[in-house]
Amino acid sequence: MIQFILNNQTIKTSLPSGSTVLDFVRYHKRLMGTKIGCREGDCGACNILVGSFENLPAGRQEETLVYRSMTSCLMPLGNAQGKHIVTVEGINGKELSPVQQAMVDTNGTQCGFCTLGFVMSLTGFVINETTTSYNDAIRSIDGNICRCTGYKSIERAAKILSDKLAEKPGTSTTQWLVKNNFIPGYFLKIKERLLQLRTESEKDKPRANGKLILGGGTDLIVQQHSQVKRSATDHFFDNENLKGIALEGNKCVIGASVTVTEFAESPVIQNIFPYLEKYIKLVSSTPIRNMATMAGNLVNASPIGDMTIFFLGLNAEIVLSNGENRRIIFLKDFYKGYKQLDKESNEFIEKIVFTKPSAAAVFNFEKVCKRTWLDIASVNSACLIEADKNSIIKSIHLSAGGVAPYPKYLSNTVAFLKGKKIDPGTLREAIQIMNDEIAPISDARGTKEYKTLLLRQLFIAHINETTNSRELTKQILLGA
Ligand SMILES: Cc1cc2nc3c(=O)[nH]c(=O)nc-3n(C[C@H](O)[C@H](O)[C@H](O)COP(=O)(O)OP(=O)(O)OC[C@H]3O[C@@H](n4cnc5c(N)ncnc54)[C@H](O)[C@@H]3O)c2cc1C
Ligand code: FES
Ligand code: FES
Repeated sequence: MIQFILNNQTIKTSLPSGSTVLDFVRYHKRLMGTKIGCREGDCGACNILVGSFENLPAGRQEETLVYRSMTSCLMPLGNAQGKHIVTVEGINGKELSPVQQAMVDTNGTQCGFCTLGFVMSLTGFVINETTTSYNDAIRSIDGNICRCTGYKSIERAAKILSDKLAEKPGTSTTQWLVKNNFIPGYFLKIKERLLQLRTESEKDKPRANGKLILGGGTDLIVQQHSQVKRSATDHFFDNENLKGIALEGNKCVIGASVTVTEFAESPVIQNIFPYLEKYIKLVSSTPIRNMATMAGNLVNASPIGDMTIFFLGLNAEIVLSNGENRRIIFLKDFYKGYKQLDKESNEFIEKIVFTKPSAAAVFNFEKVCKRTWLDIASVNSACLIEADKNSIIKSIHLSAGGVAPYPKYLSNTVAFLKGKKIDPGTLREAIQIMNDEIAPISDARGTKEYKTLLLRQLFIAHINETTNSRELTKQILLGA
């Protein structure tokens, strides 16, 4: 039995836990405000808000009820357990809310098909305790597509809302939001009601018992929507044993079900990677990042998975468990061929572990897509280099996506570069070795020649970040 609150109604349902929240709200609850656009997480027409308890903001110990936008077309019903699911009907009052009014006042809606998705994303921005700026408002709609308006009018609506939030108090925000008509009064009682719904199941030890494991569903439900609906599913998304990010000595340990958003918001991770925001902005969109888990990205084994390439560039290890025993392997050894993994059917990923880079090391992640935002990579790459004061490479790790049937750790290039001096001749030789160990194919994301060239450019970008020397870049290119 799955239990949650849908708008102001407590739900108990035995429907398949792998069916989607979108189908539940539209076809079982007849809440037609949530639209079906792409059913692939791309358009945001089906966006809802999902409220659950989190330890936020950073450093605060008590749990806060946090609302995140998610694409209901990819959200498994089982992941709604214990949460507050809010559709557009759940924010409707007697009058338009300030978000809805701002969309009207700025002509932010024309055919209207996308509008409810935008309204939900912007309401998520308004409700969130940690976001108030215009840039935050714009970021909140990075997963919404509109074919009619050209976006400028919607940006103006976002501006009106961020201006209004200047008056929002730091505490008792829910009361303020209710008083100002952003959300209906029933929101004041949701925290209490959710606490009553809590079950012990979140603490259950995870197991791979032959059921289909689901993280956020953002890969599996896109690829196998009907099959997931028919299958018995194990929901790892909220399992407390698979959550958390911690520094243990010089090892950074990340739970398998940590989402991309949780990773991006973690003070531990932000402290290690000063340019984290720049990298994460390139990964999917806000609603998808709110759902996408680390393990989901690794197990999907897409040759261009961004978090996979990120962790390969750190030479991360993964902890595999069958519920009784564990084994630890390097992520680079996890991939055996196209979608072939070193993983038994009764094993699951429990943790991802990497050594915290030393202060002298430079990490860089690069991604090139056909579109800058909300697109999968043509080629992506990550690199961690530590060189001494004489520019001798003491240690290096280098990964590349989109240039092989699986996410690639460039072992030969790494072995060649270790102990070498960073100079144009060595780097040109390294590029040659790199070209010999990749096998890109021509497809919709570019020809194999283009991808080879891209990887060379990304490698030079890594070197540029490490040395900060444009002159060196010029010399590599002139001689290449
Ligand atoms: C619109 C859209 C945009 C996207 N953009 C990007 C992008 O820019 N970059 C990118 O890299 N990806 C992108 N993705 C892909 C996807 O979001 C990521 O791969 C995500 O990390 C998958 O995680 P999940 O939890 O949703 O996986 P799920 O779909 O839940 O699961 C994926 C696979 O992992 C398995 N699994 C999950 N957890 C475990 C575990 N602990 N142990 C063993 N197996 C497990 C599942 O059984 C399944 O086989 C995008 C997807 C969508 C829909
Ligand atoms: S229908 Fe397009 S994101 Fe869900
Ligand atoms: S108003 Fe028509 S798609 Fe946005």
